Amino acid sequence: MTNKQQLLHALSCGRDRYQSGEELARTLGISRAAVWKAIERLRDEGHLIEGKSRVGYRLISLSPLFDHGRLSRELAGWDVQLFDTIDSTNRYAKALSSERAVVIALSQSAGRGRLGRSFYSPRGGLYLSLRLPISFPIGEAMLLTSMASVAVHRALLETTGKECAIKWVNDLYLGEKKVCGILTEGVVGMESGQLSSVVVGIGINLFSALDEELRERATSLYESEEEAIGDLDANLLVIRIVEYLTALIERLPDRGYLSYYRTYSLLTDRDVVVHQGREHFEARVVEIDDEAHLVVADREGEIHTLSSAEVTIRLAR
Ligand code: BTN
Repeated sequence: MTNKQQLLHALSCGRDRYQSGEELARTLGISRAAVWKAIERLRDEGHLIEGKSRVGYRLISLSPLFDHGRLSRELAGWDVQLFDTIDSTNRYAKALSSERAVVIALSQSAGRGRLGRSFYSPRGGLYLSLRLPISFPIGEAMLLTSMASVAVHRALLETTGKECAIKWVNDLYLGEKKVCGILTEGVVGMESGQLSSVVVGIGINLFSALDEELRERATSLYESEEEAIGDLDANLLVIRIVEYLTALIERLPDRGYLSYYRTYSLLTDRDVVVHQGREHFEARVVEIDDEAHLVVADREGEIHTLSSAEVTIRLAR
């Protein structure tokens, strides 16, 4: 990690108190001048760092939606980190040394999406990454994204009362518009060269202001921050997502959760266009199978079993 990232980590862990430049320099093993330089760079990126002369520095969050103390208490055993803004919570979570981490940001400057795309992450979203050790057979890692879809769906239903649909494999829709995207990435251990952890990244539009073009295909759960604050316990939403996802992972190889997935699947019996690289074909969705693959029948009746890699599905109009 760079000085800047280490400093952010140290400030984030001790956000309930001031840490002097000297203390930070000692913790990080760098000079006070390097601490000061890194603080300036973090401020340039939008982090709110309060500095009190002769006392020290403290990271502050302006959002009344999240409470770091409550999250840390209720998610015991997890390294909870909360940022106003960051480049990407997935990138940050992948670089951490903690085994289990919950990284939350209110905006991202370089959000990552599926298939190498970027993910537009303005203020008004919940950008959340969960870092988990691989405690299950590697073959089942492919199921994580579908498990995360179910966990987020349940948590949203419970905390907002809003019923989304799950669009295979990793999106949640409100009506016919995307409200949440999920990206699962593997972390390869430096020494072992083996997949050691996974990072499940979840982006939810809580009250994001979307431009006209985006509003054609995406939406937010709430009209405004005030509405979100009045209706949503955002801390509980995060807590439930973590709890539901870890419970599903613990239950593997049980795939009972797929019946929940199927119940809320947007695509079942729908006509779709399947995009694979430069190719595409029209098809009708038959089912989600027990490996969370999408089974479709093309115009000639030929059956295709699709795994998520490199496949994009659009609803046929
Ligand atoms: C997609 O729809 O293509 C997946 C989007 C995943 C976005 C989330 S936001 C939190 C986490 N951090 C990232 O950089 N990406 C994921």
